[in-house]
Amino acid sequence: MRILIVGTGYVGLVTGTCFAEMGHTVVCLDIDEKKIANLQQGILPIYEPGLEELVRRNVQQHRLFFTTHYEEAVTSCPVCFIAVPTPSRDDGSCDTSFVEKAAASIASYMPDYRVIVNKSTVPVGTAHQVASIIRSHTTAAFDVVSNPEFLKEGAAVQDCLKPDRIIIGADSAKAADVLKEIYSAFTLDHDRILVMDTLSAEMTKYAANAMLATRISFMNEIAAICKQVGANVNKVREGIGSDSRIGYSFLYPGVGYGGSCFPKDIKALIAVAKKAGVDPLLLQATHEVNTRQKTVLSRQIKSYFAKRGGLKGKTIAVWGLAFKPDTDDIREAPALNFIHDLLQEGATLRLFDPVAMPNAQKMLGASDNLTWCRDECEAASDADAIALLTEWKQFRLVDFKPIIKNMRKLAFFDGRNQYDPIKMQTKGFDYMSIGAPDMTHDRVD
Ligand SMILES: NC(=O)c1ccc[n+]([C@@H]2O[C@H](COP(=O)([O-])OP(=O)(O)OC[C@H]3O[C@@H](n4cnc5c(N)ncnc54)[C@H](O)[C@@H]3O)[C@@H](O)[C@H]2O)c1
Repeated sequence: MRILIVGTGYVGLVTGTCFAEMGHTVVCLDIDEKKIANLQQGILPIYEPGLEELVRRNVQQHRLFFTTHYEEAVTSCPVCFIAVPTPSRDDGSCDTSFVEKAAASIASYMPDYRVIVNKSTVPVGTAHQVASIIRSHTTAAFDVVSNPEFLKEGAAVQDCLKPDRIIIGADSAKAADVLKEIYSAFTLDHDRILVMDTLSAEMTKYAANAMLATRISFMNEIAAICKQVGANVNKVREGIGSDSRIGYSFLYPGVGYGGSCFPKDIKALIAVAKKAGVDPLLLQATHEVNTRQKTVLSRQIKSYFAKRGGLKGKTIAVWGLAFKPDTDDIREAPALNFIHDLLQEGATLRLFDPVAMPNAQKMLGASDNLTWCRDECEAASDADAIALLTEWKQFRLVDFKPIIKNMRKLAFFDGRNQYDPIKMQTKGFDYMSIGAPDMTHDRVD
């Protein structure tokens, strides 16, 4: 089948490429001319494991194309996916204007029946709104389908090729059948397609993200209590995760959730609930706990250095900037809050991330108090402390010997509970983590 994907970002590029990999002919369209020109030369706008090779192969085999031209693309593709941004408005509600514009552009060039599929995460009722926009631009027949995306950045290609489920929200059987056919290659081993109405499909996406975010905030609140009462949240996590009704996933305390989805989707669902007359107490708490959690590590560092002459003039190594490992995405990354807080205290920061440095440099700009380093060892050089913000695998089994040799003082603030506290203390570190007792040597110098 010939498929158009409107919006060639994380979702559009990954899903378009995976559709091509399964044998469809895919045109990826974007209004960003530079992005499309780069893609036409094989330069990807994002880092995502396995994606570059898949794009190259499918371009070479003439199944994947990039364009900025709506007319040609819409005319040649009977199915048009929309994967454009749905950012937060100032009041937290979802800004659907990009989706509306994309829908209007598609509608302007539809020669005959088209299936328009919305992959962007949108408030309940958007499919109906998109249908009325299209109706106002064309007399051609069409159906609007909601097909929310569940891929995780950092594992997007795998998630897309082997999805847990495919949600098809369709109010017409004909359109649902088209989507089932498109996805048939993804479901050969077992059926993972769930067909429902568009409203329920749109709600499913928000509910999934809200459930995951709530688990994270729940564990972060448990971690805060653990820290105060002397319990260890890592043990508590194992203790509750072993309950089959609870399970182990998404039970990790840390420095709060970030990224382009959870923060905005929780706020958007709160707005949806309020508009519908429901008081979203739990969602609001999830959001507030997360806002507080994003400062947990900077509060720990401030309190540690308050007894050691303050943070002014101290050097802190920051390991990890991306909002999670295996991505270069720094949107709403907790590392940004941390950096902001420490700069305000007069600290100097030495930063390293395996892939997110270019994006972080663009966002943070140049400053005398920021040094961009080649690796974690260089970042720790002459530092008074290391702070781990993103749990990249390469930080797990780091050789601490050369690192310790070059540090000014030995303190480690582990925002992701990646290390064994006793081992870190034995190496000479004062070791602080989330929701577990501090392992210090009680040296206040
Ligand atoms: N990133 C994720 O992990 C993820 C996962 C699931 C769902 N989503 C949802 O998918 C949607 C897209 O997210 P993303 O992260 O891919 O965004 P993105 O910002 O990475 O990419 C969006 C692209 O759309 C393009 N665009 C904007 N308006 C356009 C228009 N009118 N016509 C053509 N192109 C246009 C932009 O130039 C950009 O390249 C959002 O609603 C998001 O919530 C994202």
